[in-house]
Amino acid sequence: MTAQLVGKRAGPLTGTLRAPGDKSISHRALILGALAHGPTEVEGLLEGEDVKRTAAAMASFGAGVERLGDGRWRVDGQGGFAEPVDVVDCGNAGTGVRLIMGAAAGFPLAASFTGDASLRGRPMNRVLKPLGEMGASWICRAGGRLPLTLQGGKLKRVAYRLPEPSAQVKSAVLLAGLHAEGGAEVIEREATRDHTERMLKAFGIDVVTEPDGKGGARISVSGGERLRAARVRVPGDPSSAAFPLVAALLVPGSEVTVEGVLLNPLRIGLLDTLGEMGADLSVTNVRDEGGETVADITARHSQLTGVEVPPERAPSMIDEYPILAVAAAFAEGPTVMRGLAELRVKESDRLALMAAGLAACGAAVEEEPEGLVVHGGAGASGNHGVKGGATVATHGDHRIAMSHLVLGLAAAAPVAVDEPGMIATSFPGFVELMRGLGAEIGEA
Ligand code: S3P
Repeated sequence: MTAQLVGKRAGPLTGTLRAPGDKSISHRALILGALAHGPTEVEGLLEGEDVKRTAAAMASFGAGVERLGDGRWRVDGQGGFAEPVDVVDCGNAGTGVRLIMGAAAGFPLAASFTGDASLRGRPMNRVLKPLGEMGASWICRAGGRLPLTLQGGKLKRVAYRLPEPSAQVKSAVLLAGLHAEGGAEVIEREATRDHTERMLKAFGIDVVTEPDGKGGARISVSGGERLRAARVRVPGDPSSAAFPLVAALLVPGSEVTVEGVLLNPLRIGLLDTLGEMGADLSVTNVRDEGGETVADITARHSQLTGVEVPPERAPSMIDEYPILAVAAAFAEGPTVMRGLAELRVKESDRLALMAAGLAACGAAVEEEPEGLVVHGGAGASGNHGVKGGATVATHGDHRIAMSHLVLGLAAAAPVAVDEPGMIATSFPGFVELMRGLGAEIGEA
């Protein structure tokens, strides 16, 4: 595996590409397919490492899982999970392990889970707590860390108020509720991505969402219903599309179109924010694909202005703050990003790593306990106000790696990242697609 990759300034980025399949929807398609009765066919599945781990996990819980072609997969669901004969290794995937634990908890089985060093460091208590209230038990490392063994079965209803805005925790509780006596209810203060709710409905489950009128909702499933196999068409991932789009905004003369991007309202906070910063973005060919809105998005080089991002927007762009911080470094004036405690428990501590990476590249950045303030480097020094010229430690975080490679495309001097192999967890083919647009990304 390449030890380091480097992003360098070159000519304008131009062209059209298709975003890889949405990671959140891809995990859910495999898990719901495995829980359902009969064959589920999935088109456009993200074939990244995280999702491939979930595919393997579903096979170990007894589903038939077959790759039919590029992004085309078939899952033969058995209407439930059987006990796996070995440890389930979810790799780098927080979404994978948390949703699978929720689904598995509904069945009378013991399942042991582990993951890579990053995943073994992430808190699982947030899902274990509600699953425990429902009747599941487990043994784990200190602080609710993996590896852990979960004992499921005989669950009872819970009405669980999410302490943090987390679609993963919401989804784990709803999936457990499918096989709990009396189902489950989740109360969220702020709306988080609703792919589980939408897909459960497509699989024939009656999911009831009662908005509280203040941005939150009560979401419930009644339990004991049969999941009917379905066809799933996975739209392009807006969290991946963000990298070529921001690159086009930052590199002078660029114009890039990303086709087929998911425009779920709970995922498009970055587009709203970039629009407020003055980004030249156009959204065309808006259409419905498999119950989700998708569109083509074109980004043209723009001089951005710093903004204050409303903290309540965070759930709709939680994975996009690293690349937004890069855009902010090239904007005129400060960009204030707050309400981001969750970023400290992602694949890495993203607040710390973005602050360190941007500072190493010569940008002025203040790290706060739950936020970042980036003072843009544009203005007097023009759009190349960020020096670059650093090697950034990514701690195995794919989004930290891609963000700094994009930074390198627009900075005065090249930017190198370590562990670039991790990019394949969410965006296989990132380097080739970016090179196809004219980006200079190569081995250091
Ligand atoms: C995801 C939810 C988010 C997000 C993650 C995917 C999902 O995590 O960061 O990449 O698919 O439900 P949280 O639920 O922890 O906020």
